[in-house]
Amino acid sequence: MSFPQVRPRRMRRTPALRRLVAETRIHPAQLVLPMFVREGLTEARPIPTMPGVVQHSRDTLRKAAVEAVHAGVGGLMIFGVPETRDETGSASCDPNGILNVALRDLASEVGDATVIMSDLCLDEFTSHGHCGVLAPDGSVDNDATLEIYAEMAVAQARAGAHMVGLSGMMDGQVGAVRSALDDSDLSDISVLAYAVKYASAFYGPFRDAVESALTGDRLTYQQDPPNGREALREVALDVAEGADIVMVKPALPYLDVVSAVRAAVDVPVAAYQISGEYSMVEGAAANGWLDRERAILETLTSIRRAGADIILTYWAAEVGALLSRA
Ligand code: PBG
Repeated sequence: MSFPQVRPRRMRRTPALRRLVAETRIHPAQLVLPMFVREGLTEARPIPTMPGVVQHSRDTLRKAAVEAVHAGVGGLMIFGVPETRDETGSASCDPNGILNVALRDLASEVGDATVIMSDLCLDEFTSHGHCGVLAPDGSVDNDATLEIYAEMAVAQARAGAHMVGLSGMMDGQVGAVRSALDDSDLSDISVLAYAVKYASAFYGPFRDAVESALTGDRLTYQQDPPNGREALREVALDVAEGADIVMVKPALPYLDVVSAVRAAVDVPVAAYQISGEYSMVEGAAANGWLDRERAILETLTSIRRAGADIILTYWAAEVGALLSRA
């Protein structure tokens, strides 16, 4: 009987050895916290389908932002939920619209201590819930939407966003927004492109979070889950149009895509661990079916291991604080 001389288990023997040879680490600065602010609230309101996540009032948003900054998060991604909506989502471009006032609040509260990002999309603002405006036949009108995105980008940048996050999946959105910012003396404002965004069932809880009015689906503009190569075409276009960061969304069901995108480009790659990924773990943990903290860290580690440099996650502040203590 001969015994093995090469023994990989040697390196797993103690926590210190495992820590020494860990190939992947999560740092709070790589985590971005998505936050919701709702017009007309005087206190935070829980989102039932996302236990632990709330719709903030302007006031609680400021406080939670300060806490997240103390936890060391790399950025905040702000979503606005308006009280009233219309066909063209006009509150999105109004300097007094909820998202823009919240950006102004945050700019004065946290300044340059973190990166303030704004969701640049119409779905929270339109009465029909689509990410763009509609043509007379009811389809989403790509180029008419680009004109609104351009105006929205300028409004968000003027309100205090360091970076705009284009999540609408219209063709040419990065180029349109880049030109609008540059033409308005805002060339320092960067663009985070949701370059690869799949039409996913896992957005379910988010649509509650923003009280989405959508009754149909987004299959004509978001990507079809079977397509991986197509993601690389979307990414190439966005990089050519001037994207500073490209993002893949959702994260966990699309780790192969994260990995392929990382290999294809040299700009930073982000991944969005979306609402359904969050609620899946929270729901199972609440039932005692999963060890919550281990499951959270394992999902984040997997997304990093696949190649994401930056992760948007609803656990950003909690995990940031946890890692800073470790
Ligand atoms: C659309 C948008 C969506 C999310 C962020 N921006 C959802 C959608 O396409 O319906 C989803 C985020 C999440 O599920 O956590 N502007």
